[in-house]
Amino acid sequence: ARPTSFYEQMGGADTMKALVEAFYPKVVEHPLLAPLFPENILPVMKKQEMFLTQYFGGPQLYTMQMGHPRMRARHLPFAITPKRAEAWIGCMQQAMEEVIEDEMLRQQMMERLAMTAFFFVNTDEGEV
Ligand code: HEM
Repeated sequence: ARPTSFYEQMGGADTMKALVEAFYPKVVEHPLLAPLFPENILPVMKKQEMFLTQYFGGPQLYTMQMGHPRMRARHLPFAITPKRAEAWIGCMQQAMEEVIEDEMLRQQMMERLAMTAFFFVNTDEGEV
């Protein structure tokens, strides 16, 4: 039998939507992250919802609509410093605490996301 995905364990599409909706208001309020994002955050939210769905083992929504994710490359135009990765992880941790009750599940999902976030780091230059 196929192991149950994080996506299924967290509660599927509704919970994923709630997670993304909890996350981006924190991102756009964060002093290190806000300057990177466009004023209209809705398209970013939609794409993130599709991406995290497949990243956590749900339907391949992002790939179906956008093609190969090549997510590190998509982040290269932005200065992703270690501090910004930490900020991103912090916002996601808070969002998960609001939306996902199971602490063990949260920890496992955060561990995976944190590795990915640090993998996206592409500069250590500047104060941020
Ligand atoms: C897009 C920042 C980590 C998934 C973006 C954009 C920025 C950004 C500035 C572009 C917004 C725009 O469209 O103008 C960051 C920073 C991170 C980070 C500072 C810290 C490490 C992550 C992680 C994931 C992720 C860990 C997923 C595991 C996405 C997705 C998009 C995106 C799916 C949309 C890509 C698209 O346009 O198709 N991010 N990101 N990001 N990010 Fe991140």
